[in-house]
Amino acid sequence: MNRSIVSIADYSKEKIQSLLDMAAAFERRPNRRLLEGKVVATLFFEPSTRTRLSFETAANRLGARVIGFTDPKVTSSSKGETLKDTIKMVSNYADVIVMRHRLEGAALYASEVTNVPIINAGDGSNLHPSQTMLDLYSIYKTQGRLEGLNIYLVGDLKYGRTVHSLLMSMRQYNPTFHFIAPRELEMPDEYKRYCKDNGIRFKERQDFTEDTIADADILYMTRVQKERFTDLMEYERVKDAYILRADMLGKCRDKMKILHPLPRVNEIEYAVDDSPHAYYFQQAQNGLYAREALICDVLGITLEEILKK
Ligand code: CP
Repeated sequence: MNRSIVSIADYSKEKIQSLLDMAAAFERRPNRRLLEGKVVATLFFEPSTRTRLSFETAANRLGARVIGFTDPKVTSSSKGETLKDTIKMVSNYADVIVMRHRLEGAALYASEVTNVPIINAGDGSNLHPSQTMLDLYSIYKTQGRLEGLNIYLVGDLKYGRTVHSLLMSMRQYNPTFHFIAPRELEMPDEYKRYCKDNGIRFKERQDFTEDTIADADILYMTRVQKERFTDLMEYERVKDAYILRADMLGKCRDKMKILHPLPRVNEIEYAVDDSPHAYYFQQAQNGLYAREALICDVLGITLEEILKK
């Protein structure tokens, strides 16, 4: 059985809870040498700081060795080698392949040409399931639940794969989403249809004020994804459409947390970092624990085995 993680949208509540429990175990003690003798490959066809480094840290803390690349220009794909051949080659060397690629569907395709588990570390504007796992862990930790939350998604909802993944994975938890985006970057129809088909409540709006966010449990800010624009003039027009300022937090719920997958460009002013609502740096730290859990999961290592180590 290939245990690849291309999407976590179809995971059951039990499966998600088990991954949350695994992440919590790793937060209590990150160093557990469950992967002695294993090799984890990290193939990053697109730039990354957090995802790659936290996956590599996770592999190291689990006792695995890491191979991989951060720039496809230094690999034989620059000579014309296909993704299929690259995946088949790396499958000869590694026990798990973590891959980020600019093409939507690349991770699914990779999972179909190998028996080595693939973990999707982001495929174009499509999905980013390991980010979603750390987002769910962050939400669960700070709110004490996943059920019935008011979640505001702000910024680039068109190209932002993290919001697409999060939206789908919250399907079973009765959320209310608020989509705040400039018209050019609004949530694509396919995800709105997904919401309707799955009974997910959502509201679309363009105002972004202290009053707008007063009833938010989670305020999920996103960067406008410059690299996905074909027209840079359009990017310039929308890039600063929504900026969160510290003076907008006066009416927020006490437990409200601000999340951001990072990197941040200009959408959260630095003064917000000092607010007790700011959680984006801890969120990135949670990525280590969530990714340790995901690597174990694709290798069939259970919570019981983690707790014994
Ligand atoms: N959140 C995220 O994917 O960050 P990186 O692009 O730095 O990996």
